[in-house]
Amino acid sequence: MTSASDIEKAAALLRGGGLVAFPTETVYGLGADAENPAAVARVYQAKGRPPTHPLIVHLAGADALDDWAAGVPEAARLLAETFWPGPLALVLRRGPRVSLAATGGLETVALRVPAHPLALDLLSAFGGGVAAPSANRFGSVSPTTAAHVRTELGTAVGLVLDGGPCQVGVESTIVDATGDSLSILRPGGVTREDLEAVLGSPLAVPETSGVRVPGQHPSHYAPRARVVLVEPERVVAEAELAQEQGHRVGVFVPPAFDAAEVKVHAVVAVPQRAADYARGLYGYLRELDQQGCDLIVASLPPETGMGLAIANRLRRAAGPRGG
Ligand code: TXA
Ligand code: MG
Repeated sequence: MTSASDIEKAAALLRGGGLVAFPTETVYGLGADAENPAAVARVYQAKGRPPTHPLIVHLAGADALDDWAAGVPEAARLLAETFWPGPLALVLRRGPRVSLAATGGLETVALRVPAHPLALDLLSAFGGGVAAPSANRFGSVSPTTAAHVRTELGTAVGLVLDGGPCQVGVESTIVDATGDSLSILRPGGVTREDLEAVLGSPLAVPETSGVRVPGQHPSHYAPRARVVLVEPERVVAEAELAQEQGHRVGVFVPPAFDAAEVKVHAVVAVPQRAADYARGLYGYLRELDQQGCDLIVASLPPETGMGLAIANRLRRAAGPRGG
């Protein structure tokens, strides 16, 4: 259990330029004082992340918005009021408090208020903005438990606050509010439908084509095992074939199909509800790695609601490696 003194200790670590891993409702983050370039540099180093990839700055509440962003459009303000605290990051013009170290040199900044009591306690105790990417090595699967963080980053992180398993399970939705119209840069925990209902207009979303094969998306959020996406009806047959050909196959069996009879190394029965699937997704990928699978066969879920974020992560997991 995490106590009030752990929160104080974590806030003190942040003030001293150290790193703290903490839970959010989406995934665990690796936090540093967003106004301390040396601390932010340590985050990049611990993750093995290229310094040109910008970080999300986490805030204790929407009332800090205008300290961290400049010229916030009304539509973005409406989204912040509606969905914060929550799994939504807004990309805005950077305000005076934001160092270029945290934005990868960009004039824009991604901001979010996470909906997790420990994260909010930490942010309130610290008082400033906490720059935090997901607490994994660059390119690999985001951690959704404190144990995952320790596996990923080991001693590179000063303190890991344990808030149990993350409830959303995939990262925040990133909305770009710096252009003439809003667009979704990364689908995530707030659905496109919920955003559009509040805005009253449609949003542009990347990657909604029916791509079913690897090769078009740079690999990210990836397990060690190679991931292959096929049509739902083909999942079981493709998995069993690959197993016969000598692979150690892990399979994500879609809800409409019977997982019990599949003859491969490891089987995941995908939950019916997309929110449950999202919550479990990264844990399943880790589990199949742990079981020694070298190939994972899966299909894309329908791309509505949380299915959009799941499909996005699966496509990226199936993308060409080395990115
Ligand atoms: O759910 C989440 O958002 C988690 C938790 C810890 O809050 N954080 C997270 O951070 O997923 P990270 O660093 O793994 O992903 C941040 C994403 C990156 O894809 C980055 O390119 C994008 O946010 N991003 C950050 N600042 C940006 C900016 N100014 N313009 C465009 N994209 C930006
Ligand atoms: Mg990440």
